[in-house]
Amino acid sequence: MANDPRFPAGFLWGAATSAHQVEGGNRRNDWWRFEQRPGVVRGGRGSGDACGHYGRFDADFALAAADGHNAHRLSLEWSRIEPDRGRIDACAVAHYHDVFASLKRHRIVPVVTLHHFTNPLWIADAGGWESRATVDRYADFVRFCAREFGGEVDWWCTVNEPEVFAFRGWSEGIWPPGVRDDSRALEVIANQLEAHGRAFHVLHAEDRADADGDGIAARVGFAKHYVQLEALRAWHPLDRLQALLERRVFVEAIEQATSEGVVDLSIPGAKRVKRVLPELEGALDYYGLNYYTRWRVRSLAAVPHVATPGALLNDLGWEVWPDGLRRALLAAGRFGKPVLVTENGVADAHDTIRPGALLAFAGAMHAAIAQGVDVRGYLHWSLLDNFEWSDGWHGRFGLYAVDPGDPALTRTRRRSAEVLARLARANAITDAVREAAAH
Ligand code: FCB
Repeated sequence: MANDPRFPAGFLWGAATSAHQVEGGNRRNDWWRFEQRPGVVRGGRGSGDACGHYGRFDADFALAAADGHNAHRLSLEWSRIEPDRGRIDACAVAHYHDVFASLKRHRIVPVVTLHHFTNPLWIADAGGWESRATVDRYADFVRFCAREFGGEVDWWCTVNEPEVFAFRGWSEGIWPPGVRDDSRALEVIANQLEAHGRAFHVLHAEDRADADGDGIAARVGFAKHYVQLEALRAWHPLDRLQALLERRVFVEAIEQATSEGVVDLSIPGAKRVKRVLPELEGALDYYGLNYYTRWRVRSLAAVPHVATPGALLNDLGWEVWPDGLRRALLAAGRFGKPVLVTENGVADAHDTIRPGALLAFAGAMHAAIAQGVDVRGYLHWSLLDNFEWSDGWHGRFGLYAVDPGDPALTRTRRRSAEVLARLARANAITDAVREAAAH
């Protein structure tokens, strides 16, 4: 394998998106409402029409298919499907059937996320993810989706980055609901993990239809934000201790929940959350890995995370460190489950760093496979420049550029799209890939 440039047969190549970031007009969720508050979104421009993907999905999938993508990650917008508690919107359901039919026509396998940060207003207003009742409501939604879309979907991703969702919304307070309370953040993580466990069993019970004919009707995982956390000053005991504590809650506790069925979350100054949840034990068919960067941790500082001094940074100031992907894959591989890269990308409006980074990320993935990790695919974040949450339109992650100020929302192909296209078509790191990355 080490000298063979190929990836395993059947490797999935494609892009990842989420509904609120690309669809446009998602007015009935908590993010839309939050965006209306002054100062919460950098630059002041909210999601608005986003990329207009709700109406243009077919043309967008045609771009992906022309680039050789054979997989695509998207999320179902709960607030569209169930705008009020218990009321299913038939138009929204028909829309997502059209989306899956379009993907099928383009020979693209869907990887479907059931919760990607946004919540219907009726959920947010009934206590949101601090309330355990939300776990029940979410399980009902998952059951509906499994029955309705199970014939079109095999790859399910239950929740996206429970730890990012919780810390941004309930600890840093920069995402909805804008709370700053670590104890409440830990409760939210626990509820999301519990929701994952419930969803795992619901999906296996309800989705018995094998959409792609490989003999498996449902593959269920979550997407874990795998951030590399290392002490800024390796010699400094407090930096090291803080990095260790952060790794513990941010990475290890999440993994432990699904391997052992025990949720045990603590951070200094917050109320510990401990739950024994047998339904979580082993509740993972694949490990969905989102990898972007490494943060250096410094103790007793107002800004506790900084980039490695002198490192290559993307437009958002995140270090571009491809070997971190190899390491993350090795760590994820320890669980003995297949790993799917559910997100990886670079915010780079001018596409100067991304082509080379993509090649390096592919190399890192290839090296991890050679080291024995069962990696099933790579979904690049993202197909299009999109609404980047509190960073607004400042993080440009697209293989295709989209200017939200352009009334036509034109898609402009970046060189990175060609790099990924060559990787996908050859299913290997060839000279043609290197050439596209170098120009
Ligand atoms: C991840 C999110 C995704 C996107 C990327 C850049 O944490 O899952 O929605 O914002 O970061």
